[in-house]
Order: sequence, then C-alpha cells, then structure tokens
Amino acid sequence: MIFRQLFDSVSGTYTYLLASRRGGEALIIDPVLEKVDRYLQLVEELDLKLVKAADTHLHADHITGLGALRDRTQCITVMGEKSKVDVVSLRIAEGDKLKVEGVSLNVLYTPGHTDDSYSFLMGDRVFTGDTLLIRGTGRTDFQNGDARAQYDSIFGKLLKLPDDTLVFPAHDYKGDTVSTIGEEKRFNPRLQVKSVDEYVELMSKLNLPNPKLMDVAVPANMHVGLQQEEIAKRGWALSPADAVKLLGRPDIALVDLREESERQKHGTIPGSLHAPYGDLVRNVRPGGRLHALAHNQEKRIVFYCAFGERSAMAVQAAQDAGLLTARHIAGGMDAWKKASGPTQP
Ligand SMILES: [Fe+2]
Repeated sequence: MIFRQLFDSVSGTYTYLLASRRGGEALIIDPVLEKVDRYLQLVEELDLKLVKAADTHLHADHITGLGALRDRTQCITVMGEKSKVDVVSLRIAEGDKLKVEGVSLNVLYTPGHTDDSYSFLMGDRVFTGDTLLIRGTGRTDFQNGDARAQYDSIFGKLLKLPDDTLVFPAHDYKGDTVSTIGEEKRFNPRLQVKSVDEYVELMSKLNLPNPKLMDVAVPANMHVGLQQEEIAKRGWALSPADAVKLLGRPDIALVDLREESERQKHGTIPGSLHAPYGDLVRNVRPGGRLHALAHNQEKRIVFYCAFGERSAMAVQAAQDAGLLTARHIAGGMDAWKKASGPTQP
C-alpha cells in the first residue's frame, strides 16, 4: 500500500495520494493547484499512473488541482453528486465505492461544512474533508453550511466508526497530521456538547473571518470542466439529438466509457458496448478492441460517458491513435436523458 499525506502550507491543506502498489493506479484526494507539479513528480517517482482525482467538497480557501491534473494526465475528476461544480467526470453518492486498482473507498455523504461535503472510508482510516478536523470541525457559516446537518454527519456517521479508525482531515493549521475517532470523541472541544442545539449555538458564535482566497477560489472551483468546445470545433462532437438518429445503424458503434456502477445506476443507451475509460489507451491502439472495430469492421465509434468529459478525452485519444471517424456525445448520458434519448436498465 502506498499512502502519502502531502501538505500545502499556504492553505493548510492535506492532500492524499493512494495506490495499492508501485506501478499501479493511483487516486489523489483534495489536490491544490499550486502543488500539481509536485504531485506529478511524486507520481512519476513512485511509478504510478494517476487515474482519479477527487475533492471532498468545493473548497473556499484554495483552487483545486482537479482540472490541471485532468489536463495533464487525462485522469477522471470526481466529486459528489450534490456538488454544483460545472463538470466533473464522475459523480459519487452515499454508498458508492470510489475505486482504483486495489483500492476501494466507501463514500459517505457528510454535509454540514458545505452541502456537498463527503467523507471517504478506507478500512482503518477515514478521509473526513472539512467535516471533522483534528480537535475542530469545519465552519458552517457559508457555502450552504448547516451546523445541524454537520452534527448529524459527525455524531450520526463519523463517530459511529470504530474508535481506533484513523482520521485524516483536509486541513490542519496547528501541525497535527492524524487523529482517531476515539481521540476526537474525547478531546475535540466542539464535540463535548449534549445536544444538537448546543452544537448549533456553539458554531453560530465562532465569528471567523472569511478565507483570504474565498472570492477567487469559490468561482474558480465552480468551473473545473474540460473545455469541450475544442473537440466540438473540430467536428468531433454530436448533440444528443444527432446521436439519436444514429441508433441502430450498422456502421455505428456506440461505446459506453463509464464504470459498471454508473451503468447500473443510470442505465445505458440501447445497443451500446461497454469499454471502460481506464482501458481506453489499450483499446484504441493497434491490436485493441476498438481499433479493430474501427479498422477491420469499418465502424464509426461514438463514445459516451456521464457528462461528456471522459468521452471528449477519449475522442482525442482515439483520433491520436488514427481512428479518424471517432466522435462523442456532448454532455454525455446527462444530456442524453435531458433530450429524452432512450435508455435501458
Ligand atoms: Fe472547506
């Protein structure tokens, strides 16, 4: 197991890099834009392949590294389904699993600090974002924060974990790096309350100044979506309405890039093939499944995913591999459903 806790001293942010082995797939949690070079250097030094970058919530104190990491590694950007961020590749919800090869995190919806706050549980440790900090809790006075919801998230979910569960937060300003659930239960001053009302009262009296970067970071973090216009300008994008007309045509191969769990939850386009984004590079190069489909069977490949982000990157990769007729459905399954495109379970 590779587990690295990285620190941004400007914002006091902890970023976590996880992988099951050298040479394997990696996941990064809460990356900071200014540190992207450092993360990628470490990824290379450890011989990892970064495949997913997730934020626990929309940050107000630093600009996320999600967009930059995606642009530089073609990794999948991940946030919770409650997030109002314009586009991420993959949205997760309570009960989902956030997975890369050999690593599986259980997703917990833990609102309160913001309404899009999630925690990720991995065996003996939990990544609590800004919901539960070491001897503190995330403020609840902006970004749809709600002290009552936070009390429920902490007391109803996080503190129900075994006492020896390690707590890895998204921030610390005092130099602490890790705690445990048992330790926080006993020594976190914010948690020594007898009722939800007492907690709400406590949180309402903090009178904290706004984060220095808030007016810059929040708008920037709302827009991390890949610029799909460039793909459209080259004529590689189909609107859902255009794509509907291609359904059932023998010269078309619709290819679903999503993960199995997304397919089960949101349905698929009838007649489409499944070729997960993680296998894309292998699939489009000579000898690969999609390469054969395009060249030997002369099919035009039309990629789709959840929101059009993975499929836009896939079109580029397919074009680079010489599959010049490859296209994608702009906006993905989300846009497809809004345009009343047919789906099947
Ligand atoms: Fe935060």
